[in-house]
Amino acid sequence: AVERTLSIIKPDAVAKNAIGEIITRFEKAGLKVVAAKMVQLSAREAGGFYAEHKERPFFKDLVSFMTSGPVVVQVLEGDNAIAKNRELMGATDPKKAEKGTIRADFAVSIDENAVHGSDSVASAAREISYFFAATEVCERIR
Ligand code: CMP
Repeated sequence: AVERTLSIIKPDAVAKNAIGEIITRFEKAGLKVVAAKMVQLSAREAGGFYAEHKERPFFKDLVSFMTSGPVVVQVLEGDNAIAKNRELMGATDPKKAEKGTIRADFAVSIDENAVHGSDSVASAAREISYFFAATEVCERIR
């Protein structure tokens, strides 16, 4: 089924000047960018986005990392987009990520792991609406 998923290029990957290379991987895999913006997140915005992790020991570091520099937030659309994006990203911990995945190639640690991607249809819907108004997500000819 055609799905939409939220992707975030995190501050470490932006700092490495890897925005283009990462988006190229999405496009080459058949995912289409239907919304995109660069933003400097506030602690409140990052904390709200990661609310489900609020009680985890890494929450504070996560918010501090996600606010350490600008991020590029995108909505990707395509067949099976949620799973496809997760495949392209590789495991959360780059040490466990398969060769050739975004995290294997660009991430240095589980904390600074280059990208975020929605993990389910429900989280994709929540995450997309967290960052984009419906009018900011574009229709594209398939
Ligand atoms: P992300 O997919 O953006 O979702 C939450 C983030 O928390 C995750 O990527 C990691 O960068 C970070 N994180 C740090 N430690 C852990 C951990 N032990 N388990 C899961 N996520 C972690």
